[in-house]
Amino acid sequence: MSDASRILNPTLRSKIMSADEAAALIGHGDNVGMSGFTGAGYPKVVPAALARRIDAAHAAGQEFRVGVWTGASTAPELDGALARANGVELRMPYQSDPACRARINAGEMEYLDIHLSHVAQFVWFGFFGPLNVAVVEVSGILEDGRLIPSSSIGNNKTWLDQADKIILEVNSWQSPKLEGMHDIYYGTQLPPHRQPIPLVHPNDRIGEAYLRVDPAKVVAVVETHHPDRNSAFTPPDDASRQIAGHIIEFLQSEVKRGRLPANLLPLQSGVGNIANAVMAGLLDSPFEHLTAYTEVLQDGMLELLKSGKMTTASATAFSLSPAALEELTANLDQFRERIVLRPQEISNHPELVRRLGIIAMNGMIEADIYGNVNSTHVMGSSIMNGIGGSGDFARNAYLSIFMTPSTAKDGKISCIVPMASHVDHTEHDVQVIVTEQGLADLRGLSPRQRAQVVIENCAHPDFRPALHDYFGRAMEGGGGRHTPHLLQEALSWHLRYQQTGSMR
Ligand code: COA
Repeated sequence: MSDASRILNPTLRSKIMSADEAAALIGHGDNVGMSGFTGAGYPKVVPAALARRIDAAHAAGQEFRVGVWTGASTAPELDGALARANGVELRMPYQSDPACRARINAGEMEYLDIHLSHVAQFVWFGFFGPLNVAVVEVSGILEDGRLIPSSSIGNNKTWLDQADKIILEVNSWQSPKLEGMHDIYYGTQLPPHRQPIPLVHPNDRIGEAYLRVDPAKVVAVVETHHPDRNSAFTPPDDASRQIAGHIIEFLQSEVKRGRLPANLLPLQSGVGNIANAVMAGLLDSPFEHLTAYTEVLQDGMLELLKSGKMTTASATAFSLSPAALEELTANLDQFRERIVLRPQEISNHPELVRRLGIIAMNGMIEADIYGNVNSTHVMGSSIMNGIGGSGDFARNAYLSIFMTPSTAKDGKISCIVPMASHVDHTEHDVQVIVTEQGLADLRGLSPRQRAQVVIENCAHPDFRPALHDYFGRAMEGGGGRHTPHLLQEALSWHLRYQQTGSMR
């Protein structure tokens, strides 16, 4: 499809209007399902126009707030603009925008942080009430009205299906060569009629390359030409390289012991710089013919695909630096068969994660000595980003690995603590913990055994003696000796940080 003819369907062509006109179709109290996943494929102009409307309404003393449902995090033009206008009553699921985070932590925005694989089905089940409007970016519209998806799929299929009214943003900045890369599965049923999902290899295509839409529900089509939020990754630092090294050594030893095949199992790699560094580390590893079944495709994974170390990758979105995007765009013909973008209820589906035997690698904020992991909260109360897909993968993976530097904030915070100040992944779903200090393999260990390994292998030497001391005294403390704790001290490290600015 050429750039000049991105909207081929005459009915939908007749609905072209400006972003302001389209935003005028969204009302106070509406639940709005927006496209967008990790800075890719979000609507670029209607949310900003909506924010201007909200500002004007507030200036005139009128109430105007909406519910914003997305795939995952978006960008300043969406989350940032609406948060600054204080126009969001409730946001779900994952976000990572500073303005949005500030509103949530100030108690000015309700935030529903749920597993990414749950979002679509909870909406189908009616758990969140009606979806009034969908605002979805696509990269083109075919003659017959089907939609060419853009750089992420997220929950778009569900928004288009469930919304009463639909606004489409057709973004001519997205490469026309994305066409054919997507796989939209339309076979999902509601219980009790569910059938197995027919996907047995990471690169299986089980659906259609296009999104379906009822043209009668489309109330506006807006043409745009705007880039995704593609930010550069920081080059791997020493800690990230060491974490990557520990993981690769561990995976090699698992292959030697016959517990993993030589090309491993499909990899899931979380968001952020450390996850990206692990992928970069794999580039220099002896592994070949790797595959990925993951949520976001970051630079490191693209490098693996380019080098031939990785054969195929399945995700729901791209999350690339500008340089990597250029590389992808220039070579889309070569990558199209090897990369599949799917709806997030499929990329993160527990049935598929379990069937494929995923190796899940996700970042965390902190872990406690028994292996409970906090991915989302700072000092127990303030949200950082959200759980994202980490729970979808961790709970169902063949191997569930969580990683973090052993300290944060210039060494003032230990990321290994006596008791996690918030728990997203319980000790039952966490098999391996890695910091730059080392790796703790928790499989088959009781809580007391886990504590020894986590403290010895993962804690920073500056905090290790204090953790041993805590554990030793907890053993003698008179409470139960299955998971020994001193309840009056368990969260004292966090308290100390709040009171003195350091856990030391
Ligand atoms: N206490 C307080 N703050 C901490 C902390 C701790 N124990 N550990 C890290 N932080 C802070 C860092 O200082 C940094 O703060 P800054 O933004 O002010 O500099 C921030 O958290 C991010 O940490 P960073 O070390 O840069 O790690 P990251 O980019 O790898 O992100 C998570 C780590 C946990 C925030 C990120 O992985 C995440 O949001 N995970 C949850 C969702 C998820 O796993 N998604 C993938 C599923 S597919």
